[in-house]
Amino acid sequence: MHASVVGSGYVGTTVAACLADLGHDVTAVDIDEEIVERLNAGEPPIHEPGLDPLVSAYGGSSLEATTDHGAVAETDLTFLAIETPANDDGSIDPAALLAAAEDVGEAVADKDDYHLVVVKSTVLPDVVEGELVPAIERAAGKTDGDELGVAVNPEFQREGSAVDDFMSPDKIVLGTDGDERALDRLAELYQPLVSDWDVPVVETGRREAAMIKYANNSFLAAKISLINDLGNVCKEFGVDAYEVADAIGMDDRVGERFLRSGVGWGGSCFGKDTAALAAAAREAGYEPSMLEAAREVNDRQPERMLELLDTHVDVSGERVAVLGLAFKPGTDDVRNSRAIPVIEGLQERGAEVVAHDPNAVENMRERFPEIEYADAPEGPLEGAEAALIVTEWEEIVELDAEFDRMETPVVIDGRRAIDRREGLVYEGLTW
Ligand code: UGA
Repeated sequence: MHASVVGSGYVGTTVAACLADLGHDVTAVDIDEEIVERLNAGEPPIHEPGLDPLVSAYGGSSLEATTDHGAVAETDLTFLAIETPANDDGSIDPAALLAAAEDVGEAVADKDDYHLVVVKSTVLPDVVEGELVPAIERAAGKTDGDELGVAVNPEFQREGSAVDDFMSPDKIVLGTDGDERALDRLAELYQPLVSDWDVPVVETGRREAAMIKYANNSFLAAKISLINDLGNVCKEFGVDAYEVADAIGMDDRVGERFLRSGVGWGGSCFGKDTAALAAAAREAGYEPSMLEAAREVNDRQPERMLELLDTHVDVSGERVAVLGLAFKPGTDDVRNSRAIPVIEGLQERGAEVVAHDPNAVENMRERFPEIEYADAPEGPLEGAEAALIVTEWEEIVELDAEFDRMETPVVIDGRRAIDRREGLVYEGLTW
């Protein structure tokens, strides 16, 4: 098939490269000329494991990039993978997505054959039906079902394993308005995945598909917040929350994944999606208490980390190491990273912060240009009064003997990353 993907951010680039790897021709459309040039030169515009070989193999050949939205008319279907930034009240701003949708609608206005627009971006059901579909229809001068289809096909890819998650997903969710042509086209596109991996396909409505994405992320975020809440209680009782989690995870109804307690979840998705869903629910007249609680517990974890630090050392005027800045290992992304409130809290206490991250220093420097950054993981430990572990990168996990470089070896571990106990004043967040 020939697919087009509008938007070459984390999601769009991975989707485009993976579709090329499944044997499809792919046209990537982005308004940023530099991104387009890089893709055509075989260089991915983002850092994502497994993406380099795909973009270098297909970029400029079966994966072609352009700034021209008109190119989508030559393709069988178009994915919309445009970011939906958050407003101050947590609701999402669909303006960029709607503008791209209109560009696509205009591009297929004169097309005789059926064209399918597939929404990959995370959007609430009402936005899909009330804004997105009408915008595409208006621009195309056609109604949905009249040589034009709109489907919702959310992604469940994690940053750092987005390629693997695309290639072997737990499920593929296809939301349509019952239009057989839309389902056929998507079935053909994903056929290599479905037949090779026996991936379950969920055929549902568009509103349901949009909601599944929000509910999926909300559930995961709440699961981590619940184990963090229980973990905080465990810590009060001197109980190791990881031993508790290992046992409850053996119950199939609970499941063992996403039970790692600590300094909480970060990233661009859990915070944004839970806030957007909560804001939409409130607007609809429903107070979503569990969603709010999940968010509150998550905000509390960095504070608990700093309170634990306070019980051991007064860091005012002292050097404090922050190890790990990315919101999780394997990425350079610092959006909503727990390192941000941790560094802010240290600054409020008058500490001199020295940080290290193998990938994310440049991104964090934009947020905190005033703190010191060390190239090597052991760099911040030299003469530090305390070390706070925020991201469990392998090179941080392996530090071990390097903690002897510290002035006072106080280690507050937010990710259960460190095995060493002897010779350290060690505190785990929930153990
Ligand atoms: C998340 C979802 O896992 C993906 O399924 C979804 O597609 C994606 O959001 C999205 O909406 O685009 P992502 O935010 O990339 O993916 O990363 P995760 O691996 O889910 O981790 C999120 C945060 O939770 C990280 O800060 C991680 O450290 C934290 N986490 C994760 C925990 O604190 N404990 C756990 O047990 C698992």
